[in-house]
Amino acid sequence: MGADKNSLVARDAGTIAQIMTLRFNPLAAKGGSGSYLHEEDGRRILDLSASATAASLGYGHPAVIEAITKAASDMAGASLLMIPNEPATALAESLLAATPGKGERRVWYGHSGSDANDAAMRVASAATGRGRFISFIGSYHGCLAGSMSISGHTAMTHTLPRPGLVLLPYPDPFRPKFSADEVLAMLDYQFETTCPPEQVAAIFIEPILSDGGLIVPPEGFMQAIQERCRKHGILVVLDEVKVGLGRSGKLHAYQHDNLEPDMVVFGKGLGGGMPISALVGPAEILDHAPAFAIQTTAGNPVCTAAAHAVLNTIIDEDLPAQAAVMGAKMSAGFAKLAERHEIIGDVRGRGLAIGVDLVTSRDTREPVPATTTAKIIYRAYELGANFIYVGLSANVLEITPPLTVSEAEIEEGLDIIDRTLSDVAKGVVSDESVQAFMNW
Ligand SMILES: Cc1ncc(COP(=O)(O)O)c(C=O)c1O
Repeated sequence: MGADKNSLVARDAGTIAQIMTLRFNPLAAKGGSGSYLHEEDGRRILDLSASATAASLGYGHPAVIEAITKAASDMAGASLLMIPNEPATALAESLLAATPGKGERRVWYGHSGSDANDAAMRVASAATGRGRFISFIGSYHGCLAGSMSISGHTAMTHTLPRPGLVLLPYPDPFRPKFSADEVLAMLDYQFETTCPPEQVAAIFIEPILSDGGLIVPPEGFMQAIQERCRKHGILVVLDEVKVGLGRSGKLHAYQHDNLEPDMVVFGKGLGGGMPISALVGPAEILDHAPAFAIQTTAGNPVCTAAAHAVLNTIIDEDLPAQAAVMGAKMSAGFAKLAERHEIIGDVRGRGLAIGVDLVTSRDTREPVPATTTAKIIYRAYELGANFIYVGLSANVLEITPPLTVSEAEIEEGLDIIDRTLSDVAKGVVSDESVQAFMNW
């Protein structure tokens, strides 16, 4: 937990730009294996966040190490722009096979969910000749100029949304400010009035609103959205960056809603920790023009080989089914904790994407103050577990362990959270200790 000036925490503070950080506790990693991160003093922290889902197979998975080592020791170039390479092509073949869709389709590669959503926006505009977009309040599609401009997260209010953007409320079954029908009526009204649908290129959908509070949409809502968009030639883009590729209990989270997206965006867990994103969609859209969305090292053989190892492991070991089983166990564990901890207002999610909504009262469902959530994150870290909070009121614990998490690790995590909730209720954590960790 080192506070001395030579500790990793202190060296980080003196060197790393804060604009690239979002810290929830003083955890600093020297290494990691499986579901654990290792601190400088050797303490092992159970990572129930999986680095915000990027570490889909945990840390140091043998298949990923092998793939990276092989690709790096006989490196087929460093750029897909000018030279095809085997790992990039093979991964594209597997991604196309794993992502159902009609007709000829293609794969585009980037480095992050942010750049993939940017590319999806640009190519959707080019394909449709339209310049407007629809997305949801609370959505997080990225932190680059484009993806940020269509995000609806409160953390993005330091920048302006894109002109012409329509932000719809994401219906929340637990705190139903707007019902699914009301949101659909808002969309219809937008189409009838200030947003003629023929101006809209695409709608960006998170199949579970993740950073906006781990909200699962009401049944039928996304289908109804898709239907309306289809009618008007508006492309449906599914942002599977956070909860895709097995985490939800199905390979694609949009499959829970039987959606048929035009384009699907992958990131985070695809690389198992390596920087890679992918956009899968129709050839007539993604073959728009050469050099239209290029980045030198995108699709490089090392990251694509790692991602292919991740995808093969997820499919071959049926990790979506395992996520469904483990997620059910973990959610049941949280439901049990709720019997003793009044602060737990709702436990929701799909598979190993679990949200624990914290309330001051179960009757009013009023969110706890952000300091309370931050104290829970902090105390859990002190007791040996790492996870983060999400939600527009900063009151939802986001639990997204690696897809490879074991039953024993789930029990360990639940036990830590049980003790954490008791300790925070007793006032064990001071306000000062969490001041530095309430950054969104
Ligand atoms: C749904 C979703 N889309 C896109 C992104 C952006 O991904 P990245 O941070 O890898 O650029 C995120 C990141 O949190 C996300 O949750």
